[in-house]
Amino acid sequence: MSRYERPREAWAITGSGHYLKECLDLIQHRSDVDLFLSKAAAEVLSMYDFDVKAIRERFTCFRDTTASASPVGLFYQGRYKRLVIAPATSNTIAKMVWGIADTLVTNIYAQAGKCRIPSIVFACDTEPEMETEAPGGTVMVYPRQIDLENVKRLQEFEYTTVVTSFSQLVSTLEETE
Ligand SMILES: Cc1cc2nc3c(=O)[nH]c(=O)nc-3n(C[C@H](O)[C@H](O)[C@H](O)COP(=O)(O)O)c2cc1C
Repeated sequence: MSRYERPREAWAITGSGHYLKECLDLIQHRSDVDLFLSKAAAEVLSMYDFDVKAIRERFTCFRDTTASASPVGLFYQGRYKRLVIAPATSNTIAKMVWGIADTLVTNIYAQAGKCRIPSIVFACDTEPEMETEAPGGTVMVYPRQIDLENVKRLQEFEYTTVVTSFSQLVSTLEETE
């Protein structure tokens, strides 16, 4: 039984520069979001000149500071109706595909699944070649076969919707609200 009358949305950010700004813009317009930052996300946000302090003041924000990812307990208490991981790095996707739960973000994904809470994962490395926004400007990136295969593998997972474009993320959020 949930302790919460109005379950919230858990939104995880990983250390991806790709679509980081767009995802943050989207989050700013949502009032029911708690943030979960991977260690890399906390670093990468600063590299792109985002004000992590301001983000932490605006949102309830969990950082990756414990080995057991203690905030996962909130999933068992019914605080969250949905988990969004956006943007999701190739690293986090690989771990999720192989059932590894050794970081805050991979842990909440695993626990959400075990609580039958649906997850939306915005996989960014989805094309063999793409442009991406590095801290100094736009660069080309060539995701490896393993990165592309892992996205496909994750699409088969229960309680998981994988989206592969920002517009698909927006429409999936609206459709499943
Ligand atoms: C500036 C910067 C941008 C990055 N952008 C991406 C990216 O778009 N996609 C990706 O898969 N990894 C990217 N990385 C690498 C990840 O941050 C790195 O693999 C990290 O270990 C991911 O940890 P996490 O999955 O726990 O967040 C970037 C790293 C830096 C320094």
